[in-house]
Amino acid sequence: MFIRYPYRPQGRCAKLAGWLVKWGKTATVREIAFNRGPFMLDVNFVKSALPKSGALVLLVAEGETLTGDLLVELDAATDGTISRSFAAAEFKGKAGSTCVMLAPGAGLSRVVAVGIGKAEALTHREAEEAGGHAAALLMREASATVAAGGLSASLAAAVAMGAALRCYRFDRYRTTEKADEKPKLAKISVLVASLAEAKAAWVPLKATVSGVFLSRDLVSEPPNVLTPAEMAERCKSLESLGLKVEVLGPKEMTKLGFGALLGVAMGSACEPRMVVMHWNGSDAPKGKKAAKSQPIAFIGKGVTFDTGGISIKPAAGMEDMKWDMAGAGTVVGLMATLAGRKAKVDAIGLVGLVENMPSGTAQRPGDVVKSYSGQTIEVLNTDAEGRLVLADVLAYCATKYDPKFMIDLATLTGAMIVSLGHEYAGYFANDDTLATQLFGVAEETGEKLWRMPLADCYDKQLKSEIADMKNITGRPGSAITAAQFIQRFVGGKTWAHLDIAGVAWSSKDTATIPKGATAYGVRLLDRLVASHYEA
Ligand code: BES
Ligand code: MN
Ligand code: ZN
Repeated sequence: MFIRYPYRPQGRCAKLAGWLVKWGKTATVREIAFNRGPFMLDVNFVKSALPKSGALVLLVAEGETLTGDLLVELDAATDGTISRSFAAAEFKGKAGSTCVMLAPGAGLSRVVAVGIGKAEALTHREAEEAGGHAAALLMREASATVAAGGLSASLAAAVAMGAALRCYRFDRYRTTEKADEKPKLAKISVLVASLAEAKAAWVPLKATVSGVFLSRDLVSEPPNVLTPAEMAERCKSLESLGLKVEVLGPKEMTKLGFGALLGVAMGSACEPRMVVMHWNGSDAPKGKKAAKSQPIAFIGKGVTFDTGGISIKPAAGMEDMKWDMAGAGTVVGLMATLAGRKAKVDAIGLVGLVENMPSGTAQRPGDVVKSYSGQTIEVLNTDAEGRLVLADVLAYCATKYDPKFMIDLATLTGAMIVSLGHEYAGYFANDDTLATQLFGVAEETGEKLWRMPLADCYDKQLKSEIADMKNITGRPGSAITAAQFIQRFVGGKTWAHLDIAGVAWSSKDTATIPKGATAYGVRLLDRLVASHYEA
């Protein structure tokens, strides 16, 4: 699927288009746009020394104002401008507070002070946030030096990660924005005590930032561009990272008996896809003779646009439903991250990609479909489509790959937003160990999770008069009954379900996430793998 309207390539994009023309190739717009990739901040680590020009970021601990060597040196070089500014702004290094000084002297164009609170207690997450706050205040500078000499190498790398995450921007479709309206920040140099250590710490973090950006790109794409087939193609292109990628179309899925997923796809002119991404990074012996190793599995809801189908949604805000593929977007970003940092683990990522449309061929309320698992479903509301897609993908994953565990992500219910708002994602698990691990990494990464219950009393509400179950219940507790529905398709495997409806998209900037697609779950699950499932 190619974008067939005029598109003026800019910057690196234009250069690539030029080369393709020179090589006599027909440069399709899709290739150009996708190959460009998202903007990545150029991060360098250098030995601690006061810069003579440009912008400088100071990380200032609470109660230690002007005690750092570099800060004292700078204050002297600016005839006390720094300490006077801190006093005037009542800046004391409190976590999250900032103080900006323009042309303070000593040749510097701008000094940005960011409070980090109590230095001894600084966590990775807080270091990222400090980096993010600094980056937000540096957008008019082309480059900046970040004084992080007092921090450990891994915290200094975390500061860089926060800055890089904050610099994300989805501007593929802006063609008239003037250069002076665009953010300029392209490069940071982080001053550290131990260079080699900081550089090594940055390598896996950079891979994670790339995975997050890939996920944010997919979720930000408009629904006329990111159809199921287009998203499958973008998954396929991840083979360049060493992933093995299989794409299944309607023919293959019909043969397998994916009646639930195909029922959702029926109304759309765009064909559905299922993609299976394999990352074999463990040291376990491979090949026919080797004992089969159980992979860990991640499954994503990928509804590239959810109109509700015949049970159509109201017009106001329907455009938000372009991000109804965010669960799949997270799985793709996660798989790219694992491959990018060569994680020592065997993992698979499966995404069910469909568009939910009303039409003369669309599924009707009242239809009964037969799922891959053999269980039949009465579709009483065509807008409860995510669970139908997940039902087939989860059941297929459980029987075909015998995974150690399955974790699914889905923008599944409005009811989850009513429960937890836009701060925490809700999760459900049939296993306390996995639930505890998830809660722990959620606290560490700041991608917050709150556990919700699973119980027979909720499951009972799915009883249908005509089939094995119906796809909706009453409104009370309907995020929970949706999870119960999905649980019927996990084949007794260890499983967790993350309902990310409230957290996949943000209407405001936060320290490390500009407003828009959040890529919620990429960092959470990457950390889960790193902390608990790597050799
Ligand atoms: N994709 C929606 C859920 C959603 C709503 C996500 C708002 C993000 C923001 C899902 O497919 C849906 O329509 N769910 C219905 C289920 C209902 C018909 C049982 C809902 O939550 O209203
Ligand atoms: Mn829906
Ligand atoms: Zn949906």
